[in-house]
Amino acid sequence: MAAAKNSKSRKLVPLLLHWFSANARDLPWRRTRDPYAIWVSEIMLQQTQVKTVIPYWNRWMRELPTIKALADAPSEKIHKLWEGLGYYTRVRNLQKAAQQIIVSCRRRGNESQIKIGNRQSAIGNQSATPHVVAYKFPENFDAILALPGIGRYTAGAICSIAFNQPAPILDGNVIRVLTRLFGIATDPREKQTNAKLWQLAEELVNHASRITHHASPCSHLNQSLMELGALLCTPRQPKCPECPVKKHCVAFHEDRVEQLPNLAQRAAATERRFAAFIVERDGKFLVHQRPAGVVNAHLWEFPNAEILGAPSSRRRVSTPDELHLASGTLALPGGAFRLADAKPFCVIKHSITRYRITLEAHRVGAPASGPARNARRTSNPPGRRPALHGRWLTLAELKKLSFPSAHKKILARLLPSLPD
Ligand code: ADE
Repeated sequence: MAAAKNSKSRKLVPLLLHWFSANARDLPWRRTRDPYAIWVSEIMLQQTQVKTVIPYWNRWMRELPTIKALADAPSEKIHKLWEGLGYYTRVRNLQKAAQQIIVSCRRRGNESQIKIGNRQSAIGNQSATPHVVAYKFPENFDAILALPGIGRYTAGAICSIAFNQPAPILDGNVIRVLTRLFGIATDPREKQTNAKLWQLAEELVNHASRITHHASPCSHLNQSLMELGALLCTPRQPKCPECPVKKHCVAFHEDRVEQLPNLAQRAAATERRFAAFIVERDGKFLVHQRPAGVVNAHLWEFPNAEILGAPSSRRRVSTPDELHLASGTLALPGGAFRLADAKPFCVIKHSITRYRITLEAHRVGAPASGPARNARRTSNPPGRRPALHGRWLTLAELKKLSFPSAHKKILARLLPSLPD
């Protein structure tokens, strides 16, 4: 059985390589072998579609073209470059990993001089030519795997795509292709099945590594599996007639293509509702930065709180220390605002992980003095001061900050609604 599978893998490899050479999309990160550039693309692609990633990747490579540029970049800059991609731990891990690579290069003296201008190595010719120090991305699988934010898939992708090493990859697209090709009907998230899939992926890339008439067989073999999953072997309405390996596909022959992979049903999404407040005073808006260690850490947002209870029931708003809503006022640094004066502004719907979120934004004008401030004094429980470290900023200043997508949408709607 194992030998049969092995010989099937051997037959698949040239077909996949041939198909990839004729059908691969011209994606910007496919025009380089720079491991740094490939690493960035793989991290961006982890939870995000190719068409969304392209402009982000292009901008990132323009702004932070090297490991050193990333390691030295201010936190605001990397968050701004990532703004809208979500899952911001990814970008902080990228920077941490870049910093670790530099430290370990320095420890080993593993740095080289690069001429500025044509970026050619100028080792041994360092006279008057301006140069920068280049730091070498590790080439060893275990060293790459040890970097923050890099798991087995990403380490395999970098090793194979940048260095043509026979390291397997297994992501959602590859799982779909392999379960169909080999007729694997058990749940691919289950441990044994997952191990079997990794083994098949490894067998395929090992066969590729023995091909001598190809410049990058391991790189292209792995990318052909991803590409087949993205273009033909799709979750719904797969294009089997166009598939280069349909002759070898168990699911195709047994008419089970749409039943595989056999993924257990995920839990239904949970609905959550939030209220956000656009509070304006003297042409400035109140925002605050999310603390470290929470979702969307370090990003900025309008003051907000979760609305608890069914939509039709009387609203109860969760009251983190900074928002005392129960008494009908919104207590914020700089004033208290009567909720009765809040005007519905817009409703934003979005999904994050397993939550479907509705964010109801309200505009709250803050008089410089008067009832709202008085309201704050009377409504705050004694000894309880707003904990929100808010900042009052102009729109021009807000535009420079990074917001989670939903709050960015509020800002985008706010801009045209304001006088120039
Ligand atoms: N998805 C994950 N990695 C990818 C890559 N290198 N090219 C296209 N899609 C991908």
